[in-house]
Parts: sequence; C-alpha cells; structure tokens
Amino acid sequence: MDVLINVFVALHVIGIASLLGGFLTQMKAIGAGTARFTPAMLHGALTMLVTGIALVGLNQADDQAVNNLKIGIKLAILVVILGIVYVKRDEETVDKGLFGAVGGLTTANIFIATLWV
Ligand code: HEM
Repeated sequence: MDVLINVFVALHVIGIASLLGGFLTQMKAIGAGTARFTPAMLHGALTMLVTGIALVGLNQADDQAVNNLKIGIKLAILVVILGIVYVKRDEETVDKGLFGAVGGLTTANIFIATLWV
C-alpha cells in the first residue's frame, strides 16, 4: 500500500508542477496584461483534484490518519482555482488580479500542505 500511496503523491506533485509551472511561464505576460490560462494549468488542477481524493481514500484504507481540516481547506482552495481556470480557459487574456489570485492560491496550498503537519 505504501508504494501505491507514494505513486499517488508523485502524481500529485506532477499536478502541482503543471499548475504552478503553467502559471510561472505567464509571469512576463502578466506584466504586459496578456496572460492567459493554459491547458497545462487546467489539467494540473484536475490532476490535483483526482490524485488528492485518491490519496485521502488510500490513506484511510491503510488506517493512516488524514487531517480532515487541512484537506478540507486545500480542497476548498482548489475548487476556487479550478472554477476560475475552467470558466476563463478560452479567454485570450485574463485580468491581472484574477491570474495572480490563481498563482497565489496555488502557492498557499503548497505551504498549507507542507507546513501544516
Ligand atoms: C493546488 C492544490 C493542492 C496542492 C498545491 C497540494 C499540495 C500537496 C503536497 C505538496 C503534498 C505532499 C506533502 C505532504 O505529503 O505533506 C500533498 C499531499 C496530499 N494532498 Fe494535496 N495538494 C493540493 C490539493 C489537494 C486536494 C484537493 C486534496 C484532497 C481532496 C489533497 C489531498 C492530499 C493528501 C491526502 C495528501 C497526502 C497526505 C498529507 O500529507 O496530507 N490535496 N498535497
């Protein structure tokens, strides 16, 4: 079971790379006001949701404690990220503030995941 959990943690990390990496490639465009949500960001956010839910199930099946408050907050933040990226996925340019909010919320989730034991 440990191997399976670690495989899903790895997939979870690949999801973060896609979501945050997609954001970082647009940093210059944010300054110019031409930033847009890329498919990598949408697919990364979806990967986070699917692998995150799988990790909750796998940890519970393995009798490992899951911090429900921490996971609930991460899920709530991801739902906001996913909602914004999904709705605006076809827009050629996205408002600076909204684009920055997605990067900020993603970073917040990374710190919640790593600092909250
Ligand atoms: C942008 C959104 C998210 C980010 C950046 C993120 C980040 C991370 C990171 C860095 C880890 C590994 C660190 C560790 O094991 O302590 C992790 C683990 C985990 N994540 Fe996420 N995550 C996100 C969304 C979610 C969601 C939506 C769920 C569940 C619905 C979830 C459930 C879990 C679980 C169960 C683990 C392993 C157990 C734990 O350490 O809490 N994650 N996440």
